[in-house]
Amino acid sequence: MGKALEQIADLIKRVDVVIEVLDARLPVSSSNHQLEKLRRTKPWIKVLNKHDLADPLTTKAWIRHFEQQAGIRALPMSAKQHGETKQLIKLCQLLAPKRGKPGFPVRVMVVGIPNVGKSTLINTLAGKSMAKVGDKPAITTCTQQIDLRNGVVLSDTPGVLWPDMNDQDGAYRLATSGAIGANALDYTTVGLFAGQFLMDRYPEALRKRYKLEQLPDNPTDLMAAIGRCLGCLIAGGEIDLHRASEAFLRELRAGKLGRISLEEPLKETVVVNPDVVDELEKTAATEHSELAAESRS
Ligand code: G4P
Repeated sequence: MGKALEQIADLIKRVDVVIEVLDARLPVSSSNHQLEKLRRTKPWIKVLNKHDLADPLTTKAWIRHFEQQAGIRALPMSAKQHGETKQLIKLCQLLAPKRGKPGFPVRVMVVGIPNVGKSTLINTLAGKSMAKVGDKPAITTCTQQIDLRNGVVLSDTPGVLWPDMNDQDGAYRLATSGAIGANALDYTTVGLFAGQFLMDRYPEALRKRYKLEQLPDNPTDLMAAIGRCLGCLIAGGEIDLHRASEAFLRELRAGKLGRISLEEPLKETVVVNPDVVDELEKTAATEHSELAAESRS
């Protein structure tokens, strides 16, 4: 067990609820599966953060998938939105009914790999800048406790919890999302991986963003077409594939191609918490009517 996991294992005994922050676009690859061994009977909330960037239907499927596991609650979240984070506090209070009284706060630990949005979530919950937020993975390095003054005390992850890197596609998905630093994997290779994924799963998003009537049949030609569209050229009018990949990944991460999920659960997932699913359906319906109104105007 790594040092961070050892520290988490120690702290977990002294908290009432664990919030595991995942990236909604890739909830499996953005987790550390060793955490599962520490879970036991501790109430556990999986926050599918950055759901504003993820495909809403896939997020809905992930919520169903996680909520069918005993002892797990799952919530889609955009950690920058104060309104959305409020329901997380209510859920923590609900999961620790004996706590939350004066002198007996609900003790909550926030865990997750770098760059999933832990600091952003803590800052939003605290209502002021308490945890460092930044674009370099692994920026949170020491434990801090934050009294939210609503009967809940938060602790952030002690140490850095790294993702599992055994699966090569998982590593490419992490790199596509930006969770793995710029130097870990070559931009062009990651760009080609992401290009192939979008050609398979979200061809319409590529056609629309890069004004392509027909998609090429391989990711190298796709990247060349994207490079041409974005003006990533070198002397002689050749396409700079490295710059094209970098620009493409930047656009993808910023949501310029729409809401894209990089992983989805197996199809046989069963619904167990209809309330959460209803809420997601309402959100998706609102989003669809907003999009329809936008395209009419
Ligand atoms: P960490 O503590 O888990 O390492 O993650 P952190 O909060 O530092 O967030 C990493 C990046 O993810 C930050 O962007 C942050 O703004 C962004 N982020 C966090 N939550 C959300 C969310 O719900 N939706 C979206 N779209 N982005 C989110 P950054 O560009 O690296 O930093 P900044 O320029 O925003 O400060």
